[in-house]
Amino acid sequence: MISAKLQKAINNQIQAEMYSANLYLSMSGYCMSQNLKGFSNWLRVQYQEETEHALKLLDYLLERGGEVELQAIEAPPTEFGKPVEVFEKVLAHEEHVTSLINKLYEVAVEEKDVAAQIFLQWFVTEQVEEEASAGDILAQLRMIGDKTGGIFFLDKELAARKA
Ligand SMILES: [Fe+2]
Ligand SMILES: [Fe+2]
Repeated sequence: MISAKLQKAINNQIQAEMYSANLYLSMSGYCMSQNLKGFSNWLRVQYQEETEHALKLLDYLLERGGEVELQAIEAPPTEFGKPVEVFEKVLAHEEHVTSLINKLYEVAVEEKDVAAQIFLQWFVTEQVEEEASAGDILAQLRMIGDKTGGIFFLDKELAARKA
């Protein structure tokens, strides 16, 4: 069994992952409306990944005999500015999620739940990757600046990301 405190914390993280999914889906739609099909594709794949994160937590909770308590998910914004601003927001959001994962891991430590600590290590590693990939794209966007040719080239590159 899983402790009530850890169950609550995992349910909160499921909500956070589902919000992340919706945030990226909203960004994906926004980029499509800006004719940035590659950016839109990259964010749509990101949406799918976040949904998988939510399901991974949900399945784990059930595997441990816990109860799933889905919560209301706040509506994400609909306007995100220029591509560089979109990716500033992606990186800031991933940094926020990293802090949530770290706090969740802390709860597993406090509850002396060794199995949950091992399970959550996957998310700790995943956040390192998430921040790195968002940071790489942001760095490229900062180099590109206002050069539309660079945006066009990067958009083509991001179109290649597959789920
Ligand atoms: Fe996630
Ligand atoms: Fe993420």
